[in-house]
Amino acid sequence: MNAETLSRRWFLCAITYFVIGVALGVFMGASGNHSLFPAHAHINLVGWASMGLTGLLYRSFPAAAQSALAIWHFWLYQLATPVLLLAVAAIYSGYEKADPVAGAASVVVLISVLLFWWAVFSARGSKAA
Ligand code: HEM
Ligand code: HEM
Repeated sequence: MNAETLSRRWFLCAITYFVIGVALGVFMGASGNHSLFPAHAHINLVGWASMGLTGLLYRSFPAAAQSALAIWHFWLYQLATPVLLLAVAAIYSGYEKADPVAGAASVVVLISVLLFWWAVFSARGSKAA
C-alpha cells in the first residue's frame, strides 16, 4: 500500500483511541474511581501513542509500507488491540476469567509488532516511494 495511505489509516485508528482513552481518563478523574487505569493507560499507549508513531514511521520507510508484511501488521494489530484492551478492562472490573483472552491477544499484538520490525528492516535500504 502507498505509504501515505497506510500512514493515514494508522492515524485514523490512533485518533479514535485518543478519544476513547482521554474519555476514560476524564471519567476516572470525575468519578474518583481509578480502578481501570491500566486499561486507560494502554488505550492511550498501545492505541493513541503507538499507532500514531507507527503511522509516522511508515512515512520514513515507504518501501516497508508497500510490503505484504505491512498489511498483516496493520490487521493483526488492529484486530488484537481492541480484544486486549477490552480484556484488560474486564480483568480490572473483576472478571479475572478474561486473563487468557488478554494473554492470547497480547501474543497476537507481539506477532504484529515483529512483522512491523521485519517490514522496516527488510525495506530499510530501499528508497521506493
Ligand atoms: C484528559 C486526559 C487524561 C485524563 C483526565 C487522564 C486521567 C488519568 C487518571 C485519573 C489516571 C489514574 C492515576 C492513578 O490512579 O494513579 C491516569 C493514569 C494514567 N494515564 Fe491518563 N489521563 C489522560 C490522558 C492520558 C494520555 C494522553 C496518556 C498517554 C499518552 C495517559 C497515560 C496514563 C498512564 C500511563 C497512566 C498510569 C500511570 C501510572 O502508572 O500510575 N493519560 N490518567
Ligand atoms: C501487547 C502489548 C502490551 C502488554 C501485554 C502490556 C502489559 C503490561 C502489564 C501486564 C503491565 C502491568 C500492569 C499492572 O500490573 O498494573 C503494564 C504496565 C504498563 N505498560 Fe504495558 N503492555 C503492553 C504495551 C505497552 C506499550 C506499547 C506501552 C507504552 C507505549 C506500555 C506502557 C506501560 C506503562 C506506562 C505501564 C505502567 C502503567 C500501568 O500499570 O498501566 N505498555 N503493561
